[in-house]
Amino acid sequence: MKILVTEKIADQGIEVLKKSGMEVDVKLDIERGELLEIIKNYDAIVVRSVTKIDEEFYQHAVNLKVVGRAGNGVDNIEMEGATERGIIVVNTPEANIVSAAEHTIGLLIASCRNIPQANNHIKNRQWDRSGFKGVELQGKTAGIVGLGRIGSLVATRLQGFGMKVIAYDPYITDERFKKFGVEKKENLQDLVKESDFISVHTPKTEETFGMIGDEEFKIAKKGVRVVNCARGGIIDEDALVKAMKENIVASAGIDVLVDEPNTTSPLLDLNNVIITPHLGADTVEAQNNVGVTIAHEVLSALKGEMVPNA
Ligand code: MLT
Repeated sequence: MKILVTEKIADQGIEVLKKSGMEVDVKLDIERGELLEIIKNYDAIVVRSVTKIDEEFYQHAVNLKVVGRAGNGVDNIEMEGATERGIIVVNTPEANIVSAAEHTIGLLIASCRNIPQANNHIKNRQWDRSGFKGVELQGKTAGIVGLGRIGSLVATRLQGFGMKVIAYDPYITDERFKKFGVEKKENLQDLVKESDFISVHTPKTEETFGMIGDEEFKIAKKGVRVVNCARGGIIDEDALVKAMKENIVASAGIDVLVDEPNTTSPLLDLNNVIITPHLGADTVEAQNNVGVTIAHEVLSALKGEMVPNA
């Protein structure tokens, strides 16, 4: 059987695939046209978030049996098309959650303390300590949208900073809120009104895309700070730019943008937005974990074995 890998996964993961005796081709940054041309030759494909697995792709992927998503979110994979054709989609929902949670905290603190801006300042051989005054986390209220795997890790870490944590998640049981000592908000509006910091941790779906937008910024506390380390557009980018220009949002920490790769977002022009190019899962630990896990899952699925995350 033949496996195609189109985005960077850990070498350990590639080793696992190769040791299985299957033929493995690694073609990073492959052009869409070439991908559509060659995919008929493969039984499985391993992707991250950039390769679009859509209807057009499936029409060319006539021998495909497995799509392996090295990571958590499957918003780049059209699930219906896979189901219709009996193609198994597997992902690694647990493998990089700690890294994503830690990156969220990193973005929050870095934006609250203007760390990247101050770093750029001194690297330009300047020493002016005014203009970088930040705010503390202790005693503030953090609003978490989505109390799933990553949201709950972020919640417990923020409690360690002495923050009150509230959350909105209509799909999570009251027991889970209690387990994490997080106050439940019945609706998004209540969360937005009460939060000093808002961090989103939902998948990107029709329901969540743009869920923090103009209406929410209208009722938010003046000076609210936001973080999006989940998916681009869950916090509406135009609404965020507007709210920042109107001084409603004091700072934003952003790891994800609509239409990645994206180097033209207007968010890039704002000094109080700190931004990373989708690095939430980019740690040694997470990438090894993800790479090895997805390799085993893809092999199991190809052999017709039970796969936990199918
Ligand atoms: C994920 O969904 O697991 C993350 O966004 C990381 C990634 O896509 O590389």
